[in-house]
Amino acid sequence: MSSDASPQYTWAGNFSEPMDDLVKRYTASVGFDRRMWRQDIRGSLAHARMLARQGIIPAEDLADIQRGMAQIAAEIESGAFAWSLDFEDVHLNIEKRLTALVGDAGKRLHTGRSRNDQVATDIRLYLRDAIDDIQVLLGQFQNALLDLAEREAATPMPGFTHLQVAQPITFGHHVLAWREMTRRDAERLAEIRKRVNRLPLGAAALAGTTYPIDREFVAAELGFDGVCENSLDAVSDRDFAIEFCAAAALLMMHLSRMSEELVLWMNPRFAFVRIPDRFCTGSSIMPQKKNPDVAELARGKTGRVYGHLMALLTLMKGQPLAYNKDNQEDKEPLFDAVDTVTDTLRIFAAMIPGVVTRPEAMREALRQGFATATDLADYLTRKGLPFRDAHRIVGLAVRRAEELGVDLPELRIEELQSFSPLIGEDVFSALTVEGSLAARDHAGGTAPERVRAVIARARARA
Ligand code: ARG
Repeated sequence: MSSDASPQYTWAGNFSEPMDDLVKRYTASVGFDRRMWRQDIRGSLAHARMLARQGIIPAEDLADIQRGMAQIAAEIESGAFAWSLDFEDVHLNIEKRLTALVGDAGKRLHTGRSRNDQVATDIRLYLRDAIDDIQVLLGQFQNALLDLAEREAATPMPGFTHLQVAQPITFGHHVLAWREMTRRDAERLAEIRKRVNRLPLGAAALAGTTYPIDREFVAAELGFDGVCENSLDAVSDRDFAIEFCAAAALLMMHLSRMSEELVLWMNPRFAFVRIPDRFCTGSSIMPQKKNPDVAELARGKTGRVYGHLMALLTLMKGQPLAYNKDNQEDKEPLFDAVDTVTDTLRIFAAMIPGVVTRPEAMREALRQGFATATDLADYLTRKGLPFRDAHRIVGLAVRRAEELGVDLPELRIEELQSFSPLIGEDVFSALTVEGSLAARDHAGGTAPERVRAVIARARARA
């Protein structure tokens, strides 16, 4: 940041002394809003085209503005642009440079516009781009999940409730549950994008402007679906940023749940999966350690995105119409939410293909957890016993198996028949893990054929 001894403040006309240095630092946003420079230039060019088209500025001014902006874009891109704290934010920094480059045309750019509608436009353009990028990453992540689910469509693992072994499922079915979460995330983002994609520009400071502007033209130029219908709301609305953070919080919550499972599964007590070394870190003191840092950090970063949602809700709750400087505080939470979701999705999309399952460990966990007990109860129910009676009988059988240190299908037929005369030789096919899986053959069930059908439908849609 360069510091000019006597900067020409944009609004200096009515001021009798320069701004206090502390105030300058406190009020400036250029340190973080400069990341919106592309959107700012895009918005300004669309505004300038509209001004020229409406005869509000001469055609030569438009040409000068376009030439100046092209140079500014090149300067920023190359790192040559001198960002200055003296010009508060990205908007004034670019406008000052434009005026230095092209003179009066640069000073005419702000006709019929305020930074209030300008910044609201820039954030929406920025967030729209960010949502589109996140959707691409979500798609890549979903494809990685589909591939993993396909590879493990028939791999038995214990499904848990209360984190205790419940019933057999397939690893692929579990991964498809993760995918369902991400499908809702994608739907939500697409829904939010509609409300992001409205043009505030034209609202000016708060009340609209006296020039014969054409907002629909600007909206079309910038790819907005329409204009914000009320000038006061246009400059003060940040619902779209809150909605995005809410969607980001949910998305991170999903990634955090997946992370928690990966951390557990990687623990040698589970040993259900291996995560490639390139996604793990070691310990500086314990030579044997391999830590699932990526999953842990994703779990941890979820908290900060929740924080951003809370920050934005709180930012807005006390604001009277229309624009208030409070709004400048919208950017850092929003940007960090975008960055966190983007980085986390990218690394998960890269990590998931490397997940390797350890079927023997999952098979052993199924055995120790009497995972097919419900199947025995269902078997007895099919033979005519009321389900509640079947439930009680199987409880007794499980206790016996526990005493003998074996799984249910390892009990001798006479042993099983001592609990119910309804039990026949055919019981063993119901008690195997494969039998249990295959029997759950309905929409949403864990049967390998069902898992494969879901994957096939997903691939056909893509
Ligand atoms: N930097 C400001 C923001 O981020 C731009 C709008 C400032 N408007 C104003 N009247 N001070 O919100």
